[in-house]
Amino acid sequence: MSDQKAAILHLLTTAPNASPFDVNMALDAGWDHCVPYTGIGAADVPGLTQDAIFSRGPKGVRRTGIFLGGRDIHQAMDMLEAARGAMVPPFEVSVLADPSGAFTTAAGMVACAERMLRERRDRSLSGVRTLIFGGTGPVGMTCAILAAKAGADVAIVSHRGEAVAARVAATCAERYGVRPSGVDGSSDAAILALMPEAELIFGAASAGVQVLARRHLEAAARLAVACDVNAVPPEGIEGVNVMASGDPIPGSPAQAVGIGALAVGNVKYNTQHALLRSMVHGDGPVYLAFDEAFAEARRHV
Ligand SMILES: NC(=O)c1ccc[n+]([C@@H]2O[C@H](COP(=O)([O-])OP(=O)(O)OC[C@H]3O[C@@H](n4cnc5c(N)ncnc54)[C@H](OP(=O)(O)O)[C@@H]3O)[C@@H](O)[C@H]2O)c1
Repeated sequence: MSDQKAAILHLLTTAPNASPFDVNMALDAGWDHCVPYTGIGAADVPGLTQDAIFSRGPKGVRRTGIFLGGRDIHQAMDMLEAARGAMVPPFEVSVLADPSGAFTTAAGMVACAERMLRERRDRSLSGVRTLIFGGTGPVGMTCAILAAKAGADVAIVSHRGEAVAARVAATCAERYGVRPSGVDGSSDAAILALMPEAELIFGAASAGVQVLARRHLEAAARLAVACDVNAVPPEGIEGVNVMASGDPIPGSPAQAVGIGALAVGNVKYNTQHALLRSMVHGDGPVYLAFDEAFAEARRHV
């Protein structure tokens, strides 16, 4: 009989419930148990981490992990740092932060767009004027951070106006050393005014919300790629079907191509699966957040 210990993933979330998506992903990636702890804040993390590391011996820690969920990406990063700070090597376990699926989803979006720009326009993300609709939400904000880190010239668009977008951009600058701007998307005129300069557009607004219609895209004379992560009708960006993977966008003056939610979802799935597997089957403790998710997503596009 094997003396291998069960693989236990402790899922800590600020939310009132664990995400069934994350529980399924954990078990499918090879964890034997996924135990939810709900309503958790960063202050609770050191105590829970030490409870997890000291109870199973040095062999057992390799079969123990922590997953950090919730909705707030900055809080998830604080929780990751709190967990890291509570480790007492060799009593140390792997930790993955993926709040609201935002890190793996945004990693998939940016990796898909990067590949499409390279294939269709022979360009990297460097200097590419990028608009992120829904950029104040967890997925859009992470997308802004990753695209800006890869060298894109990023603007976060908010339908609540420039001040809201600028506040979110300032927090990203302060915390992650990137410099997105915040721009007004509160009216049709404001959105139309953004279109002529856009080369890459990400749609990451709430499910079921259309942020761009055909008339906006017709004004985007330099647009190369639009990536829409909304899978709930209507299309978040009109003409970018959920199945799109480099399909032409109707009405685009520059023959831009679209990437839809299912193409992104596929990369997101493979990325989250690989990160969860690396925790349970890897050689030692790893700390995984949006940078590691992006590196992994680049391998899956
Ligand atoms: N395919 C996948 O694998 C996958 C995985 C996870 C999530 N998703 C999708 O990713 C998207 C983003 O998720 P999320 O959790 O970050 O979204 P969210 O927090 O619900 O919303 C993101 C942003 O959308 C904007 N928004 C809300 N209502 C709007 C409206 N009526 N008009 C224009 N903008 C509006 C808001 O920004 P402002 O008010 O500041 O504009 C909000 O911050 C969703 O569509 C979600 O379903 C896909």
